[in-house]
Amino acid sequence: MTVLVFWGLILAFCISFALLKWSDLKYRRKRLPPGTMGWPIFGETVDFLKYGPDFMKKKRAKFGSVFKTHILGCPTVISLNQELNRYVLMNEGKGLVPGYPKSMLDVMGKTNIAAVHGSAHKFIRGSLLTLIGPEAIRDQLLPEIDKFMRNFINNWDGKTIDIQEKAIEMAFYAAFRQIIKAEYDLVCKAFKAEFDKAATASLSLPINIPGTNYYEGLQARKKIHKLLKQIMEKRSASGKTHDDMFAELIGNEKSRYHLSEEQIFDQIFAILYSGYETVSVTSMMAIKFLHDHPKALQELREEHLVIRERKKPEEPIDWNDYKSMSFTRAVILETSRLATVVNGVLRKTTQDLELNGFFIPKGWRIYVFTRDINYDPLLYPKPFTFNPWRWMDKSLESHSYCFLFGAGGRLCPGKELGMVKVSTFLHYFVTKYRWEEVGEVEIIKFPRVEVPNGLHVRVSKH
Ligand code: HEM
Repeated sequence: MTVLVFWGLILAFCISFALLKWSDLKYRRKRLPPGTMGWPIFGETVDFLKYGPDFMKKKRAKFGSVFKTHILGCPTVISLNQELNRYVLMNEGKGLVPGYPKSMLDVMGKTNIAAVHGSAHKFIRGSLLTLIGPEAIRDQLLPEIDKFMRNFINNWDGKTIDIQEKAIEMAFYAAFRQIIKAEYDLVCKAFKAEFDKAATASLSLPINIPGTNYYEGLQARKKIHKLLKQIMEKRSASGKTHDDMFAELIGNEKSRYHLSEEQIFDQIFAILYSGYETVSVTSMMAIKFLHDHPKALQELREEHLVIRERKKPEEPIDWNDYKSMSFTRAVILETSRLATVVNGVLRKTTQDLELNGFFIPKGWRIYVFTRDINYDPLLYPKPFTFNPWRWMDKSLESHSYCFLFGAGGRLCPGKELGMVKVSTFLHYFVTKYRWEEVGEVEIIKFPRVEVPNGLHVRVSKH
């Protein structure tokens, strides 16, 4: 077996090497972007993941702001040129569709919003917006989020907690409870365990052998399907009505958006996947930045105390309260910028293209690396300082080069929902508690923001 695997690897290596050479010859006369493709199969993936922003800096110094490489199993053009980035994001129709890795599409579903384009994308996005758009937030989601957050942070007084762990739980369970309400207590833990495996697999090498993350993720996807199907059948047999997203997705025969069973399940995957790490990292880093900047914390807390003062203790926050949280919004935007919650997005060419005078072959990936624009001193003076006040000038959020939530036809449809979740979490946290950090905090910034040893804080009543 070991011998077979060894020779298999050697063969794959040789084929890949031959393909690289062939590709070199094929495109020799065309003007590909400058750059190097690294090793067969692995390309430059290891350096890319290990050094991240420094890898980009080194490449930019050598080749300029648009260069080719080979990462995550694909020939890829990386663009640090923000004008080109904007062009790519705004022109999906010109052959620049999402290009997420195979493992992600296999685990998250072929009809997932990130896997489809053209009219199929319009349809899935339209359906999603009826579930998570502003009207749904105001009328259905916000009251539920309020109830969830209140409960979630209820008994932290006197405890030392890991904010990273709590933010992850909060982001998952808050989203899951809106999808499945009646059966939440019964299935939420099992569902999270399986979903976490699927999320890990979404960024793994697609090797379908027992023991690999990819294999485990595909198994987890099957189990999640089974669980959803059971709930669907039980609900249908009981004849009871339900008021959650799952019910809306199932019962949408009457609406414009009649989804197949596969589309319903993939829609659920999309809602959980897209709003999970983004919301948890933003919440965690907001707590971190506020801890380190007492003036900002004071102003944020005052904003929330004013809201509390006009309410009875158990009265939930509503849409108007949320809309009045302008400093909180500024804190969230500044957190998202300074921590760079999303480094960039992936696209794939559906035809040979010419971009910025370079030839980009059909099927290549384009990594629209937006991280650098977050630290552009022209857009954000003193870019490495946490300064939420800069966002009080509302024009900054709608700036053509503000890519915190993407741009164009894929602009994040969950932006407002994410904002509402983080704002509500902060509302209850800062009005109820004060906190101090315990121990050293080491933050990893790439490829994702994480705190390997946790972000431990000692919490006491405010
Ligand atoms: C609050 C933090 C959030 C950040 C920083 C964020 C960021 C982004 C970014 C940068 C994109 C563009 C991806 C691309 O162009 O390929 C995106 C897309 C998307 N986001 Fe968010 N997001 C957040 C929260 C959420 C939430 C709470 C949801 C809830 C469902 C969500 C759902 C989505 C979906 C479904 C897409 C794909 C849209 C499409 O392909 O048309 N996001 N998000």
